[in-house]
Amino acid sequence: MRVVRLASEIDFAGWRAAARALRAEGVEPQAVVWTVERELFDVDAPAPSRGGGGFTVPATFVELAEQVIQHRSADRLALLYRILWRLEREPRLIDNPADPDMARARDMAKAVSRASHKMKAFVRFRLVEGAAAETYAAWFEPAHRVTEATAGFFVRRFTNMDWTILTPDACVAWDREQLMVSEGADPADAPSEDAQEVLWRTYYASIFNPARLNPKQMRQEMPKRYWRNLPEAALIPELIETAQERAAAMVAATPRQPSDRVLKAALRHARDASYEGGVPTSLEEIEAGASVCRRCDLWRDATQGVPGEGASQAPLMFVGEQPGDHEDLAGRPFVGPAGQMFDKALAEAGVVRDRTYVTNAVKHFKHEPRGKRRIHKTPDRGEVTACRWWLDAEWRLVKPRVVVMLGATAALGVMGKPTPIGVNRGKVLQLPDQSQGLVTYHPSFLLRLPDEDAKARAYAQFVQDLRLAGKLAGL
Ligand code: URA
Repeated sequence: MRVVRLASEIDFAGWRAAARALRAEGVEPQAVVWTVERELFDVDAPAPSRGGGGFTVPATFVELAEQVIQHRSADRLALLYRILWRLEREPRLIDNPADPDMARARDMAKAVSRASHKMKAFVRFRLVEGAAAETYAAWFEPAHRVTEATAGFFVRRFTNMDWTILTPDACVAWDREQLMVSEGADPADAPSEDAQEVLWRTYYASIFNPARLNPKQMRQEMPKRYWRNLPEAALIPELIETAQERAAAMVAATPRQPSDRVLKAALRHARDASYEGGVPTSLEEIEAGASVCRRCDLWRDATQGVPGEGASQAPLMFVGEQPGDHEDLAGRPFVGPAGQMFDKALAEAGVVRDRTYVTNAVKHFKHEPRGKRRIHKTPDRGEVTACRWWLDAEWRLVKPRVVVMLGATAALGVMGKPTPIGVNRGKVLQLPDQSQGLVTYHPSFLLRLPDEDAKARAYAQFVQDLRLAGKLAGL
């Protein structure tokens, strides 16, 4: 019997080196015991193999194994070695979903991927009180050992924050330059309630999705074990009371899985700007196409295209400029700082965002790197014109009574010509399809105004414009 001791539960490099050496020596899977014992690391690890016995492992197996090793089940290491062993004689094993070993490995990989997804969705940072510099911490208990592998997502998303994610398996900390990994933490180390949570709750209330009230869906999407880490859970009873009215509006906007036909048509339009085939006939088609659009070059540096979202027959459509850093990562419009300012102003104007349709003139994030940051760049006229194709399609399908242009780029996209905000703000413009247009400030412009008095004045005008838009649209 051979005993292999790995350095940690997710020591993939250690598993890989040991598995290679064992295979080269011809050690059968049933003759190997896999364990994880820090202090005893390497005691019985086989000597590294030279060349792995002329047998090359498919890249898909390596990818699968990197995921499976994060699963909590005790038999994952042995399972992976058994598959590796069998692959030499059964090279097509990797593509056989009916094989029990492969089926189990794929199930484990799926569970790991789900756990990583949940971590991305449900980690909530809290401001650490009393720290010398502004620093945030989050406590999270992932279903599988996904912390290290998922840390990169948080680095990309919160590059300019100091943060630590504490989990029972490992802690990862980012100081804006380096990612550090240390031993798992005790739940008592998690910080308590603070002002940051109040902000988060307000934000959550403004984006609350009544569909989450479906208890079955709630259990699937947000298992109870995550609830205690979610400060906004305290808001749920109050939100339930007001949810019914909002639910009807949301049903129309709930995204569905596009059919193959819809996807094919959307991809064709997205890939080839000269394709003359039929125009999109549903918002699903636009969503599928705009997210992978190649009609101009902006897709090259962006994470994804960000289509509009909201009620499919909304009487009021808001058009912004382009997704920002947060929207590019989240795949949804107006969810970052400008989106929070927009939500706040909408609430003050008495307009419910879920009853409107919110989109952008340009669907990809145009930016340039500066150090670790991605600095917004204004899209040029050619990019606005290329993307007008999607905006027109959204406009045709949603058929809003009122279109609000947030800033100059939005005005260029909607009006098709430069339309300065200063002279046009406050006027009701007639648009070619008989809808009414309003131009107003872009929320980012308000955020950037350095003078507090000027900011307060412009913000009040912005709220007034949104209120007028709501009134004209009958909301
Ligand atoms: N700014 C925009 O114009 N749109 C967004 O979606 C976010 C920021």
